[in-house]
Amino acid sequence: MELNTIERDDIGAAAENLVVPAAATRKVFVKTYGCQMNVYDSQRMTDALAADGYAATDAIGEADLVLLNTCHIREKAAEKVYSELGRIRELKAERAKTGREMLVGVAGCVAQAEGAEIIRRSPAVDLVIGPQTYHRLPGVLARARSGEKIVETDYAVEDKFEYLPQPKRAELIRRGVTAFLTVQEGCDKFCTFCVVPYTRGSEVSRPVAQIVAEAERLADAGVRELTLLGQNVNAWHGRGENGEEWGLGRLLFRLAEIPGLARLRYTTSHPRDMEDELIAAHRDLPTLMPYLHLPVQSGSDRILKAMNRRHMAKDYLTLIDRIRAARNDIALSGDFIVGFPGETEADFEATMQLVEDVNYASAFSFKYSPRPGTPGAEMSDHVPEAVKDERLQRLQALLLKQQQDFGTSLIGRTIDTLIEKPGRQAGQKVGRSPWLQPVIVDEKAGEIGDIIQVRITKTGYNSLFAELA
Ligand code: 5AD
Ligand code: SF4
Repeated sequence: MELNTIERDDIGAAAENLVVPAAATRKVFVKTYGCQMNVYDSQRMTDALAADGYAATDAIGEADLVLLNTCHIREKAAEKVYSELGRIRELKAERAKTGREMLVGVAGCVAQAEGAEIIRRSPAVDLVIGPQTYHRLPGVLARARSGEKIVETDYAVEDKFEYLPQPKRAELIRRGVTAFLTVQEGCDKFCTFCVVPYTRGSEVSRPVAQIVAEAERLADAGVRELTLLGQNVNAWHGRGENGEEWGLGRLLFRLAEIPGLARLRYTTSHPRDMEDELIAAHRDLPTLMPYLHLPVQSGSDRILKAMNRRHMAKDYLTLIDRIRAARNDIALSGDFIVGFPGETEADFEATMQLVEDVNYASAFSFKYSPRPGTPGAEMSDHVPEAVKDERLQRLQALLLKQQQDFGTSLIGRTIDTLIEKPGRQAGQKVGRSPWLQPVIVDEKAGEIGDIIQVRITKTGYNSLFAELA
């Protein structure tokens, strides 16, 4: 299951996170597309670049290196990269007129999927580097600076995390009180619509000791809320400190022992991998937030089968019942695809019915987008675009209503909020609810990093307003 793909146009998001060593002589501009794992990867790449003498900039015009960390999940995501490369080509030409070089690199899932094709289509690109080889970035850049065009998209045999430098504590502190930590990458499920098994490769779990050490570093730098990432995060497994085989549930119990870490989350999960111990963690671990992103994609058994999801709608609903029995305040989130090949009106109605049955607190929904090389793209019976549009509208209207109803149901209730950052408006701070909603409070309600009790007074479009309880 891939992570939620948010379209990230906040250009400086990754660049902002650079460590700037005293000896920095060059500047890098990083733009991150796609899911949270790309956000994490951009941070790790910029850490590696900082150690290599590249300081961050959010002014693309002054960059010696422009790095696009790309997403390939849907066609629109990939096309965005090519149009951005068109603009960068002009900037590069402008800069060349002043006698200065601008290297252009494409990283992430488009890099992995398209490889050398990117350089053919966008000759301004100097290097293409896939997600499994980021630790080789400094060496690759040295070669690119001497004029070589480089495509580095093999699945490295070495563990990139062993080689990627850790950022300085001061930099971690600057990054704030919430953090991501990739514990698992890749996917062996091969859903027929999905490129992830091809772009991120097969499932790899990071070892317990590596994860615990990174989580301890983060906690020591003031991180209060940690989100474990993986395309199929609940398929994570490893060997514990006592030599026993651990699943994600056991890992969460271990991470909950780390002083300072007050909140744990994980994303994204596949319904087939919700093991008993993980459900038990939701029951027994107050640190584990009562919010679960558990995509189902469709409510029709016929479509689920065609998607190779390996479960039926009923299995998903039964699972949700078990999870809710373990933790009754858990809120659910999901991903949906409308217009998968062969989807009839009745299939779509089954999806609407499942959404009614589950009642989601939030969700992401997409029109099916055929991805080259996936079995779905080869199927017949593609659904016309207009039908996809119409179904998506109906589904999104229902999901939005559920999301708003969930927000409204919290009015008057007292909940925990982690104060995360200053608000957009003076006099406010923004916190995070247990269910991932932004909570707007008075700036005097507490300091960043505090977990405070607030009473919800009203809802905004996507947020909650609250006063100190
Ligand atoms: N077309 C549309 N949506 C897709 N997703 C993955 N692949 C495709 C595709 N080819 C959606 C799924 C997944 C989410 C991150 O993106 O719903 O869970
Ligand atoms: Fe998720 Fe299926 Fe894609 Fe794997 S193949 S990342 S389980 S949607």
